[in-house]
Parts: sequence; structure tokens; C-alpha cells
Amino acid sequence: MLCVRDLHAAYGNIHVLRGVSFEIVGGQIATILGRNGSGRSTTCKAVMGLLPPLHGQVQLDGVNLAGRESHDIAHAGLGYVPEERLIFTTLTVEENLVLGQKPAKPGAARWTMDELYDLFPRLRERRNIRAGFLSGGEQQMLTMFRTLLGNPCAILIDEPTEGLAPKIVDVVGETILEMKRRGLAVILMEQKLSMAMKVTDTVLVMGHGQIVFTGTPQAFEADPGIRRQWLEVA
Ligand SMILES: Nc1ncnc2c1ncn2[C@@H]1O[C@H](COP(=O)(O)OP(=O)(O)O)[C@@H](O)[C@H]1O
Ligand SMILES: [Mg+2]
Repeated sequence: MLCVRDLHAAYGNIHVLRGVSFEIVGGQIATILGRNGSGRSTTCKAVMGLLPPLHGQVQLDGVNLAGRESHDIAHAGLGYVPEERLIFTTLTVEENLVLGQKPAKPGAARWTMDELYDLFPRLRERRNIRAGFLSGGEQQMLTMFRTLLGNPCAILIDEPTEGLAPKIVDVVGETILEMKRRGLAVILMEQKLSMAMKVTDTVLVMGHGQIVFTGTPQAFEADPGIRRQWLEVA
């Protein structure tokens, strides 16, 4: 279980996170919605230790990871798929995947390269091609697969469908559902509602540097005021 408690983070004197709290268990998907600039990417960075939090806890299975180095946090079982789709463009698809491989912790979902290729055979076809030649959607899938080969227990995925064609968005959705089936705790940062609402168990909404709504997708749909206040652009 991943439990984030009262997380505060700042860029210099710009205080962005003002007490973010949420929790998620394995086999569940939580989606954090918010306007542009509401702090979703900053939440990922603070949880992963890339932006050291000023205050608060990041507990994975009861162990507090806040304040640790980001490679330590990744090693403890937290995976992160950043918005920037960081891949090694001069290496092949398969070389990128090999670099992501880590032994699984007890209880963490195990993935093989073949199982991942089965989810998106296009990458298998292109496994000997340099990653820089892939389309945006293929690079997104490669980034997710590389993170999964690290066998995380929980995974933060920042805006995976941004700029992607609808067909690839479906593949992203299917892959996220497969993560859930294999027991991962999935935290999805999204701006678009359509894919997220199909897969998510819980909706969280960010505003003013905090989580301002937590509920089921049904409760979220039933409360248009939440959407008006925190998501729509005035
Ligand atoms: N590197 C940075 N330096 C200073 N301010 C930043 C930096 N990155 C993000 N911010 C600010 O932090 C706030 C939250 O940004 P971000 O977490 O990227 O939001 P989101 O991912 O929800 O769009 C915004 O006001 C943004 O301008
Ligand atoms: Mg962002």
C-alpha cells in the first residue's frame, strides 16, 4: 500500500504542494485530476524524491521513503513514468527495455519482456530499431514497459495519453488495466477524463496544492460542481 501524508513541496519560495494526502492499495487505480499547473507533476516528483519534500510522509508498505534519494525510492518498489517519456533515443527498443530490468521484490508483480510485447506487438516488430525513430505513442509504451520491467509494487504515471492517437490511448488503457490485474497500485495523473473514467477505481481532484475531492467515478460524475470549480477552465 502507498500512503502519502501531508506532503509539502516548493520550487524555491514557490510553495506548490500544501499538504497532499492520499492512499492506494495494490490492485487499485487512482486518478488525480486537476487543471494545468495544479501540481500533479510536482506530486509525482515529490513522491519520487526528485523534488525533496519539505514535509510529509511517503509510505510504501509502512516504510517511510520521504527524504530518501530517488534511486532508493525506485529501488524500494515505486515506479515512475514521467511526462517527458525519457528514453535513450540512440539505443534500440530492446536495449531500452533491458536497462529497465530489475529483480522483483517478494509480492511485486513480475513481467517478462514477451508478456509486454504481447500487449503491444508493434514494439516487438520494432525491437531492433533505435528508440528515437519511434512515434510518440510507441515511445510512451516503451517508457511504461521499461518501468514495468523494474517490477514496481506501485507506479505513478504522469499524463500518459497526452498527444496520442485514440488507438494508442486504448492500448495505454489496456496496459493500465493489466497492471491492476497483476496487483500493482496505479496512480494516474490525467487531464482528459475519457480514458481515466473507464479504468479508475478512485477519482482524486487537486486544487490549491491539496486533494480537494476523493470519491468513486460515480460520485465524481454525480457532482458537476466539482468539475466546474476545479477542472474546467473559466
Ligand atoms: N521547475 C519549476 N520551477 C518553478 N515552478 C514550477 C516548476 N515546475 C512547475 N512549477 C509550477 O508549479 C505549479 C504546479 O505545476 P505542475 O506540478 O507541473 O502542475 P500539473 O502537472 O498539474 O500541470 C505550477 O504553478 C507551475 O508553474
Ligand atoms: Mg503535469
